[in-house]
Amino acid sequence: MSKGIKIVTIGGGSSYTPELVEGFIKHYHELPLRELWLVDIEEGKEKLEIVGNLAKRMIAKAGLDIEVHLTLDRKEALKDADFVTTQLRVGLLDARAKDERIPLKHGVLGQETNGPGGLFKGLRTIPVILDIVNDIEKLCPNAWLINFTNPAGMVTEAVLRYSNHKKIVGLCNVPIGMEMGIAKLLDVDHSRISIDFAGLNHMVYGLDVYLDGVSVKEQVIEKLSDPENSSFVKNIEGQEWEPGFLKALNALTCPYHLYYYKKEQTLQKELKNFEEGTTRAEVVKKLETELFELYKDENLAVKPPQLEERGGAYYSDAAVRLISSIYNDKRDIQPVNTINNGAISFIPAESAVEVSCVITKEGPRPVVNGEIPVAAQGLVSQIKSFERVAAEAAVTGNYDTALLALTINPLVPSDKMAKVILDEMLEAHKDYLPNFFTRVEA
Ligand code: G6P
Repeated sequence: MSKGIKIVTIGGGSSYTPELVEGFIKHYHELPLRELWLVDIEEGKEKLEIVGNLAKRMIAKAGLDIEVHLTLDRKEALKDADFVTTQLRVGLLDARAKDERIPLKHGVLGQETNGPGGLFKGLRTIPVILDIVNDIEKLCPNAWLINFTNPAGMVTEAVLRYSNHKKIVGLCNVPIGMEMGIAKLLDVDHSRISIDFAGLNHMVYGLDVYLDGVSVKEQVIEKLSDPENSSFVKNIEGQEWEPGFLKALNALTCPYHLYYYKKEQTLQKELKNFEEGTTRAEVVKKLETELFELYKDENLAVKPPQLEERGGAYYSDAAVRLISSIYNDKRDIQPVNTINNGAISFIPAESAVEVSCVITKEGPRPVVNGEIPVAAQGLVSQIKSFERVAAEAAVTGNYDTALLALTINPLVPSDKMAKVILDEMLEAHKDYLPNFFTRVEA
């Protein structure tokens, strides 16, 4: 008989934790969780207490025998873990606000995973994740690392390239959000929809879409070309395309394609938010305050519906179904970020890609579902180059490598502007960039 599973969630004080706990409760019959360790850092101590107590109430209400441990001691938590999930934000939402606002000040589109914001979130996050991986290698080398931390594609790339721990899967809720959106569009249950995904994180395409196993791509593209039906996630609006665009592309786009295929419209919208103090970080800060007020209520023992106002809806479904399929060797198909191994012909074999995979106890195995359309290959390659160079900059702390990453990003207009933004952002994020500021020359 199995002794049950130990899961460690780093960034356990996140407002998203109740989402995850709800998933563990729903799937307890197939995922016998014995211990859930929520880990955070000193600055997150208060949130960890609040969210941890809610997690305990949710589990008690469900009548399950799961121990919940709250700790600031990551090493103590990691010992003998079976799965480690990471959902952290280095520098908290203040850093996200800088990622969004500094580029906009210079008229450049920025967001937490795209453009200069994406680069800086990567520069702050990758060294921390590599540190965690280091601990995993020592304390629980057989554990699977399930990373939700953004920029998830860049982080997965960095772990694959710069560590020896190969048991990593990068996970995002965008693909499941697209499936849910299409189910709604066709007015059918989500379980009847499946999509062949291929691309990169936040740059993923649906190569085909099925209802009960039969392709309905043409019908879906037709519907999605209607401006009335185009929104997939809460935090990105205005996803309507020119009617002929999707038809000619012959694939489904993800919400983040807006940043590339609707640059001007998105920039204007973000500039308005910038002026009004309503960039996403600022909106999320307010939402978080409200959420934590709710979480404090000792009578609350379920995930409050307000959490669905965050962009990460369905995150628990994606997370728990992935962990369960690895644990139970289900061999079902799920979209995740993993090593390419030839699944996308024009991306290096050892790079991270976001593709539909068979999920086994040995991890994900990409399924090849045909080629990404030629019209999209250039952009996908360009973003992969950006992610690789950015990951290298994060690890080496090399200024010129960071400048190169920013200059090749499709949202940055020139090398000169890249330098202006880079210098200002390096200064603004200085406290979280030890590789850049305390580097000892070899
Ligand atoms: C999306 C993305 C996630 C991201 C989240 C942000 O759905 O897939 O990668 O973390 O939105 O949501 P927020 O509410 O923080 O803007």
